[in-house]
Amino acid sequence: MSLAGRSLVSLRDWSRSEINLVLQTAQLMAQAIGFEGQGEPQPFAPLDRIMATLFFEPSTRTRLSFEAAMLRLGGQVIGFADPQVSSAAKGESLADAVAVISGYCDLIVIRHPLMGAAKVAADYGRVPVINAGDGPHEHPTQTLTDLFALQRAKGRLEGLRVGLCGDLKYGRTVHSLAPLLARFGCQLLCIAPEPLRMPAEVMAEVEALSGQRPQETEDLRAALPELDVLYMTRVQRERFPDPAAYERVKGVYVLTPELMAHAPADLIILHPLPRVDEIDPRLDSDPRAWYFRQAHGGVPVRMALIALLLGLEPMPVKGRRYGLHVRPAPPSPQPPAPASDLPPRELLREAPPCRQPGCVTAVYENLPAQAFRQPWGELVCAYCERSLPKPA
Ligand code: NCD
Repeated sequence: MSLAGRSLVSLRDWSRSEINLVLQTAQLMAQAIGFEGQGEPQPFAPLDRIMATLFFEPSTRTRLSFEAAMLRLGGQVIGFADPQVSSAAKGESLADAVAVISGYCDLIVIRHPLMGAAKVAADYGRVPVINAGDGPHEHPTQTLTDLFALQRAKGRLEGLRVGLCGDLKYGRTVHSLAPLLARFGCQLLCIAPEPLRMPAEVMAEVEALSGQRPQETEDLRAALPELDVLYMTRVQRERFPDPAAYERVKGVYVLTPELMAHAPADLIILHPLPRVDEIDPRLDSDPRAWYFRQAHGGVPVRMALIALLLGLEPMPVKGRRYGLHVRPAPPSPQPPAPASDLPPRELLREAPPCRQPGCVTAVYENLPAQAFRQPWGELVCAYCERSLPKPA
């Protein structure tokens, strides 16, 4: 199985065995960098590869862990963290930008405020593209990081009872994570107030994948005793169209030591971070608080992902425990392997244009109109994956 030349726009396009390959490779990378006390870090041989990080939105963890990952692999990094210094400020289209930048690098990592921007980058780029967050839509590399943390903390992914809590409407991390957990046979409980409930499209997908509609509640305290994992999220202030609506829900959940007294002793708390006020810092010393360890795992996970997409595999190098031996990548991106554990969905190349606010098609109007027909019959925009009006 090879991931060489593939892009990662959504894990929906990846099979479980491909996801497991990334997690296993991450474990090797963790050993190689002495992650969490696994011995001395072993320097990698210099690697003649360049990764471009195009960050059109703020980021700390994602960008720095991607850059740290590439530097640990021995490669080089170019990019920007402020779109005002790129030609986007001059009105350049995203498609043109990635077509050009593809000529400067071997891999592109993009974060953008518009849903579907990563798909546009993958469609127009000539090198693999990784989605590091596209508006409120998806954040697949955070999901890989979350799965890596779950494996370390719980020793398994299958069959966990996971509570997703907070801003399930705008939080992109839970939009990527929920379908994945469903595919691994986890039981989901969505904990959110009415205005922040999980989008209908994600609920429908989870139901189709697991045969079970996630339960929904507003009551965090009542949910706690039933959970193996509590995944907290920040209320995404910057995504609210109306500041007054944010004011009504901010601070809706605050996890405190007092609340955690109702949780099982082996529950773990995850959070993609940054935290605002939803986890009391007094919990940081609680052994159930896993969020900082979770964030640190982003480096070996992203090392694994970069190496696999570049067609490299970790092989011993003379005098070192680990180094990168380059496996020749195919000359052009391979067609994605069928994600055999997922129900097929049909790509419609002629479809009603989406143009919903926040979708990349609303800003770049000459993108080809495309839609997916989900296996359960729903028509969704291929960029933002939100429901399209049914054709007349
Ligand atoms: C998340 C994001 O950017 O979506 N952060 C991250 O990448 N770890 C979560 C958030 O911003 O709340």
